[in-house]
Amino acid sequence: MKGVILAGGNGTRLSPLTLVTNKHLLPVYKKPMIYWPLETLIQCGIKNILIISGRGHAGHFVNLLGSGKKFGVNLSYEVQENAGGIAHALAIADDFADNGKIAVILGDNVFMDSKEIQKGVKDFKQQKNGSKIFLKSVLDANRFGVAEINKKKVARIEEKPAKPKSNLAVTGIYLYDEQVFNIIRKIKPSRRGELEITDVNNSYIKKNQMTFQILKSEWTDAGTFDSLLRANLLAAEMA
Ligand code: DAU
Repeated sequence: MKGVILAGGNGTRLSPLTLVTNKHLLPVYKKPMIYWPLETLIQCGIKNILIISGRGHAGHFVNLLGSGKKFGVNLSYEVQENAGGIAHALAIADDFADNGKIAVILGDNVFMDSKEIQKGVKDFKQQKNGSKIFLKSVLDANRFGVAEINKKKVARIEEKPAKPKSNLAVTGIYLYDEQVFNIIRKIKPSRRGELEITDVNNSYIKKNQMTFQILKSEWTDAGTFDSLLRANLLAAEMA
């Protein structure tokens, strides 16, 4: 299975930290943020990885990570011209995916332990088709995509609901089959003008082709001041 890291977007919630550099190059304890999702994919045995970043800082990612040789993997790079949303960035990976299954991870997501994800990836390889998401119980579900579970299935995902129907956040690692690119072509921009990954996931749910796993190990995003601090503290604790 190939992997895709989405590291576009403007990182405005971290301004002024992101005025002259990219969010995913900021430190999370002893490593640049992007090392965390990269290492998560690598620990899942993924050897071919595409990094999609925005204009302006693409060269910095190449300077930092190079061909991937020092990580024992093969890295490729693409540019998302404007921050049109997570699904908009993922659409760029269509040729790279080459009709195969892919693991997609957000560049600001920090998973402290990849063992459970490794199992999920293994299970997904056996899954006939569709998608798999990873959920995590959180205290501030309104900041995330939130999954409603009914009869052991994901019934619906709501993006940043004011009144979350559960405490299960949809983490930023998604496993998709080749249908994902056709699904993205059919979705429309949301009210905030972005192609939402939640709309992609809800399409799989409607087809009854979505499985999920609940993570016990620590996870956080790092896209706000508080979550970036939390990512650093968690990483320091685990070291
Ligand atoms: O962290 C998990 C959450 O990530 C999910 O629970 C939500 O359902 C999902 O929508 C997303 O929410 P955020 O509001 O935190 O996403 P954000 O706009 O911060 O983007 C997260 C990453 O996605 C970012 O670090 C880089 C990538 N991205 C984002 C945008 C908007 C792109 O590559 N291109 C983009 O245009």
